[in-house]
Order: sequence, then structure tokens, then C-alpha cells
Amino acid sequence: MLPANKKLRIAIFISGRGSNMQKILENIQSGLLEGVEVALVLSDDANAQGLHIAEKYGVPSHIMNIPPSFKASIGKEEEFNIAKRLKKLNVELICLAGFMRLIKYDLLQSFKNRIINIHPSLLPKYPGLHTHEQALQNKEKKSGTTVHVVDKGMDTGKILAQIEVTIEQGETEESLSKKILYKEHVLYSSVIAKIRDGIIPLPIDEPSP
Ligand code: GRF
Repeated sequence: MLPANKKLRIAIFISGRGSNMQKILENIQSGLLEGVEVALVLSDDANAQGLHIAEKYGVPSHIMNIPPSFKASIGKEEEFNIAKRLKKLNVELICLAGFMRLIKYDLLQSFKNRIINIHPSLLPKYPGLHTHEQALQNKEKKSGTTVHVVDKGMDTGKILAQIEVTIEQGETEESLSKKILYKEHVLYSSVIAKIRDGIIPLPIDEPSP
């Protein structure tokens, strides 16, 4: 539990639309996520739609400085610079929200067990991309969304929470993705609230061996 006057300061990493980020900002504004403060929004893409949303909410943003040859990571130098900046801003938790690169270097060290991600499948099923397509192809009866701790793998860290959805007859990728995104918007804020309230303490415990 945080002392009454202390806020949980978070940073949100995005790459595109930013609807999960928007929901977090809305919930802070409405009081549902009272006691949480977004110190910085970071994007690997200067054209990310989510940057306009951050601006609308008055949240400062940072465009990552990534060499064009780096396709799947941020790079050592930029991770080092971001980690330094986030520490200076007293950020305690990093939330990846549609962020399309792996965290590999300094950020993973400096924010060990303090980085979480939201993923549109019931992990450990379907890590990576094209989750809805795979779930439908495999005739799954259910899918859903997962919030998990970020480790060096792709969508492999400790699972913190999941919400299931039923896959109906005639479900399409579009309808499934809409259904799951709606649940993501609920799930991410509920996990952040648990971290704020100390129900999930930071740094988040390692899974037992
Ligand atoms: C979400 O489905 C999230 O789970 C996945 O990417 C999507 C991002 O959506 N990692 P948005 O940018 O938050 O709207």
C-alpha cells in the first residue's frame, strides 16, 4: 500500500494506436486509477496515433532514438538513456501497451520485475504476433488476454492476470480482436490498481522454480 500522498509513477511504451494507454489515462482522470500518475509516454514511432492522445491528456512524450537497422529492439544506447531518464522521473513501473519491440538491455536490468505487458491471447498459448488468426485456425473454444511480467523472452514472463472470452461460431479475426481489446482495457487497469495497492508488490516476485 502506498502512503496517502505518494503516487505510483508509471511510464507507458507504445508503438501505434494507444487505446490501452488511453484507457489508463481515462481511468486516472475519472478517479478509478487514483494514485497513479503517467510520468512519460514513449514511442518507437514518431507517427504513432497514441502520441496525440498523450498530448491531449497533457502527458509528456518521448520518441525513441532507434537506428533504422534495429527492427526488433530499442538498442543498447537508447535503453541506457531511457532507463536513466525514467529513474530521474522516479518511475517505478513500465507498462508496455502495444509496444512492438523487445526490451533487452539496461531497461531490463534497471527495471527488473517492474515492466509489465498486455498480450491478446491466453499465454502461454500464442505468444508473438497473429494471435487471433492462430486461435481461429486451431478451432479454439476460448481466447483472451494476459498481463505478464516482461523478461528477456517474447511474452514469456510471469503471468499476473488473464480474462477469457468465448470464441463463438462464425467468429472472425475482427470480431475476436474487438472482443479481446475490450477486455484488455479492463484488465490492464485492474492489474495496475493491484500494484498501486500493494496487492502485487513491486518488484514483482520471480516465479518459484
Ligand atoms: C493490444 O491488443 C495489445 O495486447 C497488443 O497490441 C495491441 C495494442 O493496442 N500488444 P493499442 O495500441 O493499445 O490500441
